[in-house]
Amino acid sequence: MEEPTSLEHYLRTAEIDLFGDFEAAEGGGHPSKELVVLRGGIGALAKLALSDPERRQCRSEAGAYVVAHALGWDDLIPVTVLRAVPTREGQVDASVQILWPAFATAAELGLDEATVPGDDALRTALIDGLLLNSDRHSGNWGLVAGARLGLIDHGHTAISGLGGISGFYEQWRGHPLDDEHRGRLESFVGHGVGRLQELLDDEGVVRSIAERASSMLAASALVADA
Ligand SMILES: Nc1ncnc2c1ncn2[C@@H]1O[C@H](COP(=O)(O)OP(=O)(O)OP(=O)(O)O)[C@@H](O)[C@H]1O
Ligand SMILES: [Mg+2]
Repeated sequence: MEEPTSLEHYLRTAEIDLFGDFEAAEGGGHPSKELVVLRGGIGALAKLALSDPERRQCRSEAGAYVVAHALGWDDLIPVTVLRAVPTREGQVDASVQILWPAFATAAELGLDEATVPGDDALRTALIDGLLLNSDRHSGNWGLVAGARLGLIDHGHTAISGLGGISGFYEQWRGHPLDDEHRGRLESFVGHGVGRLQELLDDEGVVRSIAERASSMLAASALVADA
């Protein structure tokens, strides 16, 4: 089974030295966010699970990271774990994700999907297709330090029961998969699915994600509609 990284372990266990409001650009989305600073100086975004819908979105955030990691594409999604964080009202369960440095969203930069280099766009489409991400608008992807694609905000997927179709997936639907992509999907089906099951403890949703991976392998193309 795919092992957790030491960075995941750190994010899950490090002392939280500071917590405070996280100012989102605009309203909507996940309402309960905190900025936390972990011992040693790493800043992270905590999305609080104060209700059942929020709890499902937090699991979706962490699940999306596990999928990216299992594919070997955690250059695209920051390390995200589930843990308790301090709040003014006491300890609360949350998803906690590392903040990309100098991140700006595509909306802020005035970019559209066509500006994303092909391999990054295809990898995003594959992740979004597996997870049925329904929320990949231009506020939920962007550039890290003006240079690299970074994906954020994975609360709206099959994992949270809010699945749909992403624009990246739409654009690359049916695209043939090469040997490298097939190998990554095979290793996801072989090793990644177990970790996802451990995290989510929800056989139905994990099976549906694994089945989409198998359908892509069988078709050797980006298909997520099975
Ligand atoms: N991992 C991250 N690294 C850097 N910045 C981030 C990260 N996650 C979120 N942000 C910043 O916080 C903003 C809101 O985050 P996110 O999109 O995850 O929340 P949301 O629930 O959709 O709320 P909103 O209504 O603000 O969209 C993003 O637009 C981005 O500027
Ligand atoms: Mg968002």
